[in-house]
Amino acid sequence: MRDLVGKTAFVTGGASGIGLALGRAFAQAGMNVMLADVETEALAIAVQSLQGFGPSARGVTCDVADPASVERAAEASYEAFGNVHVVCNNAGVAGGSGIDDISLDTWRWVIDVNLMGVLHGVRTFLPHVRAHGEGGHIVNTASMAGLNSGLGLSPYSASKFAVVNMSEGLARQVAPLGIGVTVLCPEFVRTRISESVRNRPKRYGPVQAPDPESAAGKLAAQQAELGRLGLDPMEVAAQVLAAIHKDELYVFTHAGAEWRAELKERFDAILAAMDAAAARRPAT
Ligand SMILES: NC(=O)c1ccc[n+]([C@@H]2O[C@H](COP(=O)([O-])OP(=O)(O)OC[C@H]3O[C@@H](n4cnc5c(N)ncnc54)[C@H](O)[C@@H]3O)[C@@H](O)[C@H]2O)c1
Repeated sequence: MRDLVGKTAFVTGGASGIGLALGRAFAQAGMNVMLADVETEALAIAVQSLQGFGPSARGVTCDVADPASVERAAEASYEAFGNVHVVCNNAGVAGGSGIDDISLDTWRWVIDVNLMGVLHGVRTFLPHVRAHGEGGHIVNTASMAGLNSGLGLSPYSASKFAVVNMSEGLARQVAPLGIGVTVLCPEFVRTRISESVRNRPKRYGPVQAPDPESAAGKLAAQQAELGRLGLDPMEVAAQVLAAIHKDELYVFTHAGAEWRAELKERFDAILAAMDAAAARRPAT
């Protein structure tokens, strides 16, 4: 989408971090912005912080894990602004890693928010964007953890791998309709992601804080520190805006040599396994 002025953006996880930065970037680009978030107080402050940046910013309480809640948030957006053009399925939570430390409840919570939340956003808004025919763009927030299994057997990585895959498939399906798709794959960004448990609903059971001396505890502390040293969310938002303008599928916010080497190792191993399988097949 080249012309964003006067159009409307809907952003989940909009009360904090990357979502709030996206909201601000869209407002500065002349768009109406609807921030959707489960954290009502932070949402009100976030909406207030956008006043004066763009034409109009509103907020709607929304739990992306609940499809009915996403439908209600969409209705509130249409009522406030009419058609929605840019949909950012960005809300996400970080859960522990290491098979022995993760309860099924934690798996369910992370998958419900990070994966089902993206699906609910796509299912809700795609028919609307297709029907109004004014063009649109869907931005799904994944992570570098969606391309690399360095975190081990982790619900976070599993959910983000799925978001990358879904976005790639979706892009192919909606391109003929004039709808773009971007999958955002950040590395460390300065946000509140390491405090994700603040939004964990009671229905997923008690929070398991890992023993700080365990492997999972040390990994969590290391990730939190890397987050504190991470990229400014506004830099991420600027990259997303550029990707929407140029209709680019991938946004890699860091793309350093270390990540490239890890990805290459993974792809090389997959191709080598295919070569080995082909070599084992009897010649016909
Ligand atoms: N910060 C990083 O280093 C980093 C790296 C890679 C990917 N990401 C991804 O970026 C996205 C945004 O996270 P962030 O880093 O800005 O963290 P953040 O915690 O600052 O913001 C996440 C927002 O999502 C909201 N949220 C949580 N559960 C929700 C739910 N069920 N429904 C609606 N909103 C909900 C939170 O209230 C919060 O406002 C996430 O998908 C995260 O996985 C972040």
